[in-house]
Amino acid sequence: MAIDLNFAGQRTAYGTHGVHSFAAKFPPQLARWGIESFSEAGETVLDPMVGSGTTLVEARLLGRHGLGVDIDPLARLIAAVKSTPLPTDVLAAATRHLLVDAGADFADLRLAREYGIPFRDAFRDIPIPEFPNRDYWFMPKVSEELALLRRRLDRIDPKPIRDFFYVVFSSTIITKSSSSVANVRDLAHSRPHFATPRVQPDVLRAFVTRLARMTRAMNDLTEGCASPSSARIIGDDARRLALADRSVDLIFTSPPYVNAIDYPRAHKFSLFWLGDALGTSTDAYRDLGRSYIGTDRVPIKTCHALTRERFGIASLDATIERLAEADPRRAGVASRYFDDMGRALSEMGRVLRPGRQAVIVVCPSRIADVNVATHDLLAELAEARTSGVLRHVETHERTLDDSRRQLPITRGRFGPGMRTEFVVVLRRDAASL
Ligand SMILES: C[S@@+](CC[C@H](N)C(=O)[O-])C[C@H]1O[C@@H](n2cnc3c(N)ncnc32)[C@H](O)[C@@H]1O
Repeated sequence: MAIDLNFAGQRTAYGTHGVHSFAAKFPPQLARWGIESFSEAGETVLDPMVGSGTTLVEARLLGRHGLGVDIDPLARLIAAVKSTPLPTDVLAAATRHLLVDAGADFADLRLAREYGIPFRDAFRDIPIPEFPNRDYWFMPKVSEELALLRRRLDRIDPKPIRDFFYVVFSSTIITKSSSSVANVRDLAHSRPHFATPRVQPDVLRAFVTRLARMTRAMNDLTEGCASPSSARIIGDDARRLALADRSVDLIFTSPPYVNAIDYPRAHKFSLFWLGDALGTSTDAYRDLGRSYIGTDRVPIKTCHALTRERFGIASLDATIERLAEADPRRAGVASRYFDDMGRALSEMGRVLRPGRQAVIVVCPSRIADVNVATHDLLAELAEARTSGVLRHVETHERTLDDSRRQLPITRGRFGPGMRTEFVVVLRRDAASL
């Protein structure tokens, strides 16, 4: 009997799941199904492309030890915060202090504005970060308020509490709708569209509103966490996992889609403001964008070279050839995607314990009018790149809930099939060394 993995109409925002918009998150019920089906309490679950941390939150709620990896610094921050319960009283005390201090700062700002004192004179020690098109994407007064608030957040200790507030801060910028304090809408869908808000956004008010919501969510997580359980971010590249061979009981993950979601393009709006706190800069983050799996920032020359390479897998080579006839650039992008995914799958095969499962949630694509059956191709690639250590067991189909899943749903670009995604179950050969 087919398993129903649609979870249509079910509530997805329990625990900390709903605290920050993120493109292409999977529903928590899907991660729950995978974790309950393929692991036991106390075991280790790895998500090597952890995104906003859905797998880690579910691991904690179900009494597993979650490990997360992601190349994106904002994803790592969000995933860590969402899966780290904070004592309710400590969070409440930090919130009280912050609101008193920020309230005083913003009262000073109002006064300075009333008296016509420029921000740079009233707050000499608070620089407003420089980045390309700053005054286009953020109203100057909004930039002043973001800089003022950010300075307050930097003073919060300890780090897990500070990080919690950074995520609240980021969630005022990256939103699903037009409620961002930036001049954008639908940033969570990853393509920034310029939109001037009808009224000038009030940064402190937006922050406080989201803080209240996120505090409730955090208390929900803290109450719901099973004991023992844990969650840790352990690295930044699925192609190179800093884990011992055969050390993980389950892998549950959803890789990026070919050429579909440009995370840095959306996340840079928060990174402009939080980059230094996350150990990066606007320039470094832009450069990092070329290393994401699924990026379309592949130089045209490289694309041509990539399309000439062969994977030695008939279905995959035929897909790349068809793409190369239709659109050589995108064929190169797809070829690079599958090469990167081959590396990631090979690492998954290495760290998984024999006899255990790796579950990959993935959407097929339609690129330049060519159907790319990513789910089938990844299953074949996994077997080929691990010399049969990972074997395909079964694939389940599920229908995306349009109202929930934050995907850039555009029929023209991705074709009609994109509302369906696949859950590919692989298993490490029990006899493999
Ligand atoms: C579809 S999203 C995962 C969403 C996640 N399942 C959730 O519920 O939030 C794919 C993630 O892969 C990450 N990614 C891209 N290239 C990567 C790499 N080389 N190593 C690790 N993560 C990578 C992206 O930053 C993105 O967060």
